[in-house]
Amino acid sequence: METREHSAPPSQSKAIHLKRFGAPLEVVEVGEIPVLAPAAGEVLLKMEFAPINPADLNVLEGKYGTLPALPCVPGVEGVGRVLSVGPGLGVGGEALLGKCVLLPNGFGSWRSYGTANALELVVVPEGVPLEQAAMLRINPATALCLLENFVALKPGEWVVQNAANSGVGRSVIQIARASGWRTLNVVRRGGLEAELRSIGADAVLEAGETLVSQIAEITGREDPRLGLNAVGGESALALAKTLAESGVLVTYGAMGLQPLRMPNGLLIFKDVAARGFWVSRWYKNATQPQRDRLFEKLFHWAASGVLHTPVEAVYSLDNAQEALAHAMRSGRSGKVLFKG
Ligand SMILES: NC(=O)c1ccc[n+]([C@@H]2O[C@H](COP(=O)([O-])OP(=O)(O)OC[C@H]3O[C@@H](n4cnc5c(N)ncnc54)[C@H](OP(=O)(O)O)[C@@H]3O)[C@@H](O)[C@H]2O)c1
Repeated sequence: METREHSAPPSQSKAIHLKRFGAPLEVVEVGEIPVLAPAAGEVLLKMEFAPINPADLNVLEGKYGTLPALPCVPGVEGVGRVLSVGPGLGVGGEALLGKCVLLPNGFGSWRSYGTANALELVVVPEGVPLEQAAMLRINPATALCLLENFVALKPGEWVVQNAANSGVGRSVIQIARASGWRTLNVVRRGGLEAELRSIGADAVLEAGETLVSQIAEITGREDPRLGLNAVGGESALALAKTLAESGVLVTYGAMGLQPLRMPNGLLIFKDVAARGFWVSRWYKNATQPQRDRLFEKLFHWAASGVLHTPVEAVYSLDNAQEALAHAMRSGRSGKVLFKG
């Protein structure tokens, strides 16, 4: 059977290359790779948007849980459009033509074109903004799993988190609000309260010495049973101290680069538990119905505007260094994306 095409692709694709690990701005190069025709069971994708996540920067540095074989095209997530369909996919393949899809794990999303296994694609429903779709598979998925998979939260219960203005943190706020849970949101700088409250935060607090007592004052006797930690060090310790007896502190990020410290007393007298979460492991172990359910919720919330991650800038792949430098800045108001 012949390859079926939505529109004709060029012969070369722009791509960001990673040939060695090191300082992000020094190790990426913009180049070209041939655009291959999709093989049996594959589709050819035109990349639309792909974010630069902290995990991408860690991969460039060679400091992540799993590292790709080099050379490679980095980028762990994004959204693309199906341009042509390879042989062997039947009517299902025909139906994919022109559709926007979440790029599969390992695709290397910082490129303009690439082929992917059709079975690994997640079709983006109409009505989901493409920039938002490009960021759904990692951060909002993480937020949903953090809120649903560790503590069976009752209506109105408090959840406490740090790095609350991050992509994950904002998704936690939005999903918690939509699900009827209340959030205590710790940030490391001022000026974020009005904005985070406008997306559903119940309380916004700046990190500092009085944080634990401030939180106790807000929650009264209803101490949170779930704490979400993306920072580590003193910030994580403060969250742990606010937790109820047998509460769970879930660490999913280490932005502060400081190890977790858990005093003996919190373990002995309060039975506080320290757990970890990695969304890659979740995807690996999840059943298809679990994945379908996750995407159904995320797409629904993204289409209705409940889930929205702000975007601070969109760059062409030609401006890779500029984009990476921007993504590495502190105090951003949103994510930095590549346009394919
Ligand atoms: N385990 C998983 O499966 C998983 C999945 C998704 C994300 N993550 C992790 O979650 C974290 C957040 O990711 P994201 O994409 O949501 O982040 P993001 O939108 O890029 O935002 C970064 C956040 O980190 C804060 N930050 C940066 N440096 C910091 C420091 N030294 N100390 C304290 N806070 C600092 C920033 O605060 P300012 O705004 O004040 O600069 C901002 O709130 C990252 O560590 C990421 O790797 C893990």
